[in-house]
Amino acid sequence: MSTPPAERLLYEGKAKQVYAADAPDQVVIHYKDDATAFNGVKKASIADKGVINCRISAFFMDKVAALGIPTAFIRQTAPRDQLCHRVEIIPVEVVVRNVVAGSLAKRLGQPEGQRLARPLVEHFYKSDALNDPQINEEGAVLMGYAHGWELVAMREYSLSVNDMLLAFWGDLGVDLVDFKLEFGRLGGRVVLADEITPDGSRLWERGTGRKLDKDVFRRDLGDLSETYRELYRRVFGESI
Ligand SMILES: Nc1ncnc2c1ncn2[C@@H]1O[C@H](COP(=O)(O)OP(=O)(O)OP(=O)(O)O)[C@@H](O)[C@H]1O
Ligand SMILES: [Mg+2]
Repeated sequence: MSTPPAERLLYEGKAKQVYAADAPDQVVIHYKDDATAFNGVKKASIADKGVINCRISAFFMDKVAALGIPTAFIRQTAPRDQLCHRVEIIPVEVVVRNVVAGSLAKRLGQPEGQRLARPLVEHFYKSDALNDPQINEEGAVLMGYAHGWELVAMREYSLSVNDMLLAFWGDLGVDLVDFKLEFGRLGGRVVLADEITPDGSRLWERGTGRKLDKDVFRRDLGDLSETYRELYRRVFGESI
């Protein structure tokens, strides 16, 4: 199945395009090579990022489904394309943290690298215009962004996904520092949507602390394309 024609484009984000699929309740998510940071201020094209992220996300979504967690993902249909259920995205992003880094370190004036005694779940209101501000669950409910029961499911699913990802990356000699998830509404249920990729995760090589994620691009630490190729080799045991 090839990428749908331009007239089917519903939405173009920073890293992906969303197309109407043949079935009205489905979409094709097309992964681009574009990388952005600081809410789109810094931009570049990273060779093969779309192919790498598409396959990694598909791989993890299958693992999530195997845990019994519903997802929007149906199947990968091309190197950069996934067929997914069309969902109503809940405008609350969930971040799970195992180690202090990124905006948490900045906000609290703490050094990066401190391991947390248990995973910390944070919420952010999904708004490019506002730069995705942090919000708590009470605020998300009172502002009408999500129902209480949805947030309960999102927290439980996110912690289960964290357990799975921690173990998976750990076996590959990689520490999962943190990651972001998006959820959607589908048939009265909450499902995991969007992506699980190194764009939305922090991955540090065990022992050396070398960064194997989009921080390489954000912080000018090296060649992100080469970093993602290395991750791909670790995950799939073959080169791209
Ligand atoms: N199954 C789905 N059904 C409907 N929308 C989806 C689905 N999966 C992902 N999306 C949405 O498609 C868009 C993907 O594009 P991309 O990740 O490039 O966006 P972005 O630039 O990160 O911006 P933003 O997420 O803030 O809209 C996101 O808005 C995401 O919430
Ligand atoms: Mg996105």
